[in-house]
Amino acid sequence: MNSVTVIGLGPMGQAMAHAYLDSGYDVTVWNRTAAKADDLVARGARLAPSVEAAVTANDLVVLSLTDYDAVYAILEQAPPAAFAGRTVANLTSDTPDKARKAAAWLAERGAVQITGGVQVPPPLIGKEGAETYYSGPEDAIETHRAALEVLTRIDHLGEDPGLAALFYQIGMDMFWTGLVSYLHAQAVAEANGISAERFLPNAVKTMDFRYFLEYYAPRIAAGNHEGQVERVAMGVASMEHVLHTVEASGVDGSLPATVLDLFRRAAAEGYGEDSLTRLIEVLKR
Ligand SMILES: NC(=O)c1ccc[n+]([C@@H]2O[C@H](COP(=O)([O-])OP(=O)(O)OC[C@H]3O[C@@H](n4cnc5c(N)ncnc54)[C@H](OP(=O)(O)O)[C@@H]3O)[C@@H](O)[C@H]2O)c1
Repeated sequence: MNSVTVIGLGPMGQAMAHAYLDSGYDVTVWNRTAAKADDLVARGARLAPSVEAAVTANDLVVLSLTDYDAVYAILEQAPPAAFAGRTVANLTSDTPDKARKAAAWLAERGAVQITGGVQVPPPLIGKEGAETYYSGPEDAIETHRAALEVLTRIDHLGEDPGLAALFYQIGMDMFWTGLVSYLHAQAVAEANGISAERFLPNAVKTMDFRYFLEYYAPRIAAGNHEGQVERVAMGVASMEHVLHTVEASGVDGSLPATVLDLFRRAAAEGYGEDSLTRLIEVLKR
């Protein structure tokens, strides 16, 4: 019988443990707050009496925790020998550097870390189209491919254990900023009597940045910042209109003011006639 250990039973770890039970796996779980295992135990999962018992129960240990402080708070409860020969799929979000240090910490104990960055919310675990960034040794991923694919598809980025964390964080950089920009625009809409339902079709169209990304990426790669279709100076004027509209609506203007400040800095550095892609140079400083 296929078997796996899942440590961490927040919404994500619970969804993962349920997905393994759905797929007929023998599932061992451990969580700081043991009561979160109740539903899983009722479905046949085993609640390990200790971290050591959880780690030694299976070759593959899936970690789904808040951050790497939680990872150490838990794993340090087990003796170093418990990890020998194990593969730890660490699907905990944190920085690339912390992912690399954890991989080294596990290697010192004879274990291999596969770092993962899950790209979907818990309800989509085990569903078609769900994907996770992975990085770490190819052979470890291949050995556990079937078990990992119970959760999501695998996007293996390379051997560096920090790479999955990096891709995850740059994705989150876009995700949070983009999502908050939607909420900000909805606040302005509501201040002007426009409901979320009314704004939805327009918001969906505006949030579809595919055309722009596909236009910009090859130009950025080629170092071509010519302002052929838009210019930083236009961005300054446009963001001033946005900020004035926001303020006239009585809504907090700190988000558009930050964007306007970036455009103004680029213009002040002499890039007014260049494409918006020049912001990358300003941001890297
Ligand atoms: N939820 C999502 O939509 C989503 C999507 C993609 C990726 N992720 C990532 O997946 C991971 C898990 O997500 P989640 O939503 O399940 O997160 P979460 O609710 O923050 O995870 C909580 C888990 O971490 C444990 N924990 C936290 N601090 C601890 C400590 N000091 N000592 C021991 N255990 C500790 C909790 O134990 P207790 O139960 O005892 O508190 C629980 O098992 C996160 O890294 C998150 O960024 C989440």
